[in-house]
Amino acid sequence: MKIILLGPPGAGKGTQAKKLAQKLGLPHISTGDILRQNVSQSSGLGKEAQGYMTKGELVPDQLVTSMLIDRLKQPDCLNGFILDGYPRNLAQAKTLNEVFQNMGIDASLVIYLDASENIIIQRICGRLVCKKCQANFHVTNMPPKKEGICDYCRAELYQRVDDTQDTVKNRLNVYHKETSGLIEYYRQKGNFYTLNADEDADIVLSQMFELVQKTNGSAKIQS
Ligand code: AP5
Repeated sequence: MKIILLGPPGAGKGTQAKKLAQKLGLPHISTGDILRQNVSQSSGLGKEAQGYMTKGELVPDQLVTSMLIDRLKQPDCLNGFILDGYPRNLAQAKTLNEVFQNMGIDASLVIYLDASENIIIQRICGRLVCKKCQANFHVTNMPPKKEGICDYCRAELYQRVDDTQDTVKNRLNVYHKETSGLIEYYRQKGNFYTLNADEDADIVLSQMFELVQKTNGSAKIQS
């Protein structure tokens, strides 16, 4: 099962991908998470990417694409994966097609999480992320059981540097300019579904399971 999640910043891609990945026993591959990890480790890639990320601009394709290809070659991706944050523009989508062709695989399902702008801003400005396991919380929508502490691994929660009102506006501009065109691109390729991501997170997740079962009847959901 190869799933691509599309959607604007704050639509809930990361939140849903983590839950879906756990239930399907597949790796969740978030280019944003991998880049943030590189930034926190001050790697060469992290140093190059940091400025773009802080401003809400896309990191140059060649940096992100080689990082993604390395990740897809890992053995845990053999049975499938959930892609979150890639592709981000037409060039990345075309590269991904080639990568899939070379690996003899095809994207089996593309899900577009559609969310309204006022909801996106409210979600992003209140988001909290775990420093260790990257789990997402929200100050009011999904508060942690203990303030400032991750429910899953007990590590500290933090606010992303790009989660300010100004940067969110730029990220939305970049999304409309670079990424939203991919909706039509994937719609025409087939196996493309749109979900209303303004809905409660549990409703969105159960609709995603329905789509997984509809497109891959043999998919096993773990309890
Ligand atoms: P990335 O990390 O991918 O950020 P993004 O696409 O802007 O998406 P977000 O992580 O902000 O949102 P999300 O949809 O995952 O929402 P979430 O589930 O967290 O990228 C960051 C940066 O890295 C980019 O700006 C760029 O610089 C760079 N980058 C990454 N990939 C790249 C690429 N391919 N090419 C070039 N550059 C790249 O939810 C948000 C909040 O809402 C959370 O607090 C959550 O608790 C809450 N929430 C979620 N769903 C619901 C719900 N249904 N109801 C109520 N609350 C909800």
